[in-house]
Amino acid sequence: MKKILLLGSGELGKEFVISAKRLGCYVIACDSYAGAPAMQVADDCAVFSMLDEAALRAAIAQHQPDLIVPEIEAIRTEVLLEVEKEGFEVIPSARAANLTMNRDRIRDVAVGLGVRTAQFNYAQSAQELMTQAQAIGFPVVIKPVMSSSGKGQSIAKSPADVQASWDYACQGMRGDRQKVIVEEFIHFDFEITLLTIRQRQGKTLFCPPIGHVQERGDYQYSWQPQAMKPELLKAAQDMAEKVTADLGGAGLFGVEFFITPNEVIFSELSPRPHDTGMVTLISQNLSEFDLHARAILGLPIPSIDATEGASAVVLASETGAHPTFTGVEAALSEVGVDVRIFGKPTTRPFRRMAVALARGDKALEKARAAAQKIKVHTH
Ligand SMILES: Nc1ncnc2c1ncn2[C@@H]1O[C@H](COP(=O)(O)OP(=O)(O)O)[C@@H](O)[C@H]1O
Ligand SMILES: [Mg+2]
Repeated sequence: MKKILLLGSGELGKEFVISAKRLGCYVIACDSYAGAPAMQVADDCAVFSMLDEAALRAAIAQHQPDLIVPEIEAIRTEVLLEVEKEGFEVIPSARAANLTMNRDRIRDVAVGLGVRTAQFNYAQSAQELMTQAQAIGFPVVIKPVMSSSGKGQSIAKSPADVQASWDYACQGMRGDRQKVIVEEFIHFDFEITLLTIRQRQGKTLFCPPIGHVQERGDYQYSWQPQAMKPELLKAAQDMAEKVTADLGGAGLFGVEFFITPNEVIFSELSPRPHDTGMVTLISQNLSEFDLHARAILGLPIPSIDATEGASAVVLASETGAHPTFTGVEAALSEVGVDVRIFGKPTTRPFRRMAVALARGDKALEKARAAAQKIKVHTH
């Protein structure tokens, strides 16, 4: 039986724990607060900040896990680099966790591999940002190099917006580096997540592409498959294979691309299951969580079978605790619809609390209608 130390215990971690436990693993779920979703289904839990070097080290020393599985980006990844050298196994690799925590590092890797990205540059002051933005041409997208879920991200439409974008980025920054990436704004037709699985043995596998729509830096709904030209899909697969091969290790990656009429542009990647990939809980024979579990345990994945599916998020509207849900009955009365309620103990505006899933004909319409029916209440 493999012992897994899960770093981060949100909704994605919860589904991963379920998949890993079905395959006989023992899981210790870690997060900065008690009662986190994955802790509710794990064997054991530990509450500490993943950014706290000493606490992270202590948890690894105490539990002696066979596998360390990061579920979030904000981890003191230097510790992972060190414990990997001591013989602990980090999924997919400590290097992958370390590079993807920093937008500049993973972007530099992609460029080094000759992968097409949006035109971009870095800036460490408002002044430098202005120079870089003017060189790229407005509008530009500005993101702190260390942030996730759209935090600190904005679009500057003209030089007049640059100072505000810089200030906003500084507020949304994680870590101690005052550095932003400034990118050409891509007028894409659609964007996709390409779930890519690196196996311990055997070739790299891909799930059918997942289309999604983002608002306020978080995904709102996703669907699978996203129809696209076969040659563009092939180009995306080739890029995903190249980048994930460079990162190494075994596991599932969520590789994000922007798709224009004739081009595939690499955006970023998560070396772990992706939120837009929750659709696979209903669309595939093996969900992205099952696939991650099989890949890291070295178990075979003979085939990935997918049908049409969609997911739509259910968000909280205010700050509160002990949330209750109404409308679940109405949502579940539709054929082909299912719901996952994450069990987060507290709410805040726009916090993702549940997801509606649908399969088959009109899956996207059904998932969005189901999500609309579900309301979150706190007292
Ligand atoms: N250069 C860009 N051009 C157009 N849209 C972008 C660009 N960069 C980001 N976006 C939009 O913002 C979303 C979030 O950006 P992303 O780089 O994926 O940040 P995060 O790590 O917060 O997910 C993307 O999914 C896309 O919708
Ligand atoms: Mg993203």
